[in-house]
Amino acid sequence: MKREKFGSRLGFILISAGCAIGLGNVWRFPYITGQYGGAAFVLIYLFFLLTLGLPIMVMEFSVGRASQASIALSFDKLEPKGTRWHWYKYFGMAGNYLLMMFYTTIGGWMILYFVKMAAGQFEGLDAKGIEAEFANLTARPGLMFVCMAIVVILCFAICSMGLQKGVEKITKVMMILLLALMIILAVRSATLPNAGEGIRFYLLPDFGKVKEAGVFEVVYAAMGQSFFTLSLGIGAIAIFGSYIDKKRALTGEAICVTILDTCVALIAGMIIFPACFAFGVNPGQGPSLIFITLPNIFNAMSGGRIWGTLFFLCMFFAAASTIIAVFENIITFAMELTGCSRRKSVICNLIAILVLSVPCILGFNVWSGISPLGAGKNILDFEDFLVSNNLLPIGSLVYLLFCTSCYGWGWKKFIEGSEQRTGNPVPEMGKGVCVIYFAADRAVYLCTGIYHHVLKHIGE
Ligand code: PHE
Repeated sequence: MKREKFGSRLGFILISAGCAIGLGNVWRFPYITGQYGGAAFVLIYLFFLLTLGLPIMVMEFSVGRASQASIALSFDKLEPKGTRWHWYKYFGMAGNYLLMMFYTTIGGWMILYFVKMAAGQFEGLDAKGIEAEFANLTARPGLMFVCMAIVVILCFAICSMGLQKGVEKITKVMMILLLALMIILAVRSATLPNAGEGIRFYLLPDFGKVKEAGVFEVVYAAMGQSFFTLSLGIGAIAIFGSYIDKKRALTGEAICVTILDTCVALIAGMIIFPACFAFGVNPGQGPSLIFITLPNIFNAMSGGRIWGTLFFLCMFFAAASTIIAVFENIITFAMELTGCSRRKSVICNLIAILVLSVPCILGFNVWSGISPLGAGKNILDFEDFLVSNNLLPIGSLVYLLFCTSCYGWGWKKFIEGSEQRTGNPVPEMGKGVCVIYFAADRAVYLCTGIYHHVLKHIGE
């Protein structure tokens, strides 16, 4: 069977960016930044993005393109004979499912909050009322299930229409709308009274705060966030490498995706922090920042209902584009491993994901007594912990070793694969962009080269 390809380069970039841009940018990044003290955390995060995130994204694309397969088969195809790199595929595939087991529930909340905002249901509620609203939602498994199911069915329906006609077409529109809406929201937020203070908190580093939280913890969180936000470590991005032809150098594409992803995360902060400071709300709230803190802010804002509706629409687009991308992966696993049709794979996986998402929902109510991570943490926290703190960093390391050590695919083959191109390496861009592009390209070469030499040294 011939592998489907993307219809256009923009499609490829926007889908990969859609996979990367998600709750990690608009929900996780702002609240973690708030918790770990603002700008200093952002700087550490940017450091990891450049030295590990970007190179590993090139590696995933490269493995995908060279093997022409998803993680279900890519290691089998590329590993040296007799090695066991392919064992990682079970963890990688499990990671995709585990991620969706809680992501779909949050996606469901987004759609519900969008509808509630649009219907004006938060108007007139005080802070307590808004908190009660969220508590009410998490106490109702039936309602959460319906919202989750709507998101899951919608996203699978889009995937079932095929790569070009479904995934590419819809994601392209969603991503462009997302970017436009976010810029409008950021301008609104930055022109609120007292917004300057929020921008200062966000952009002026204060390393004292890092010390307070514990340097190791902050550094680990920043590294984890850089993997999470770029979707690295479980082959989620690798598959899109398998859909792109050899005309393009992969580093350039990875740079575009990373820049888009970073812009969205930074803009999300630009929306949230000035608004928090303008209305005297603590930005270090944690995960409830979006569902409790922000509706309060919208209530206090003139025209808040419209801004709130647009905001949750944005959140939904971000979540849905990631869900669609990961579903595309999940669907492909079954197709590659069993040779079944896309349709059959969609139906089986639809049922599987609906069932697998249930524990996360029940963890807020019926099963709230189950807390594998200790008191106060529920099943969502546990699933998030397994993926974000374990599978993604370990998987990223696996890709890194696979591509830079001589016991894996090897650095030479990786570099050849990623640089291979027949088209123009630096597409129609201005001079300034070319400089950034060139610098980042060399940075990737340098970083991976260093990893390669260090590994060789250790090996000797
Ligand atoms: N990058 C996605 C986000 O920011 C999350 C993700 C992680 C998706 C890993 C796929 C794989 O929301």
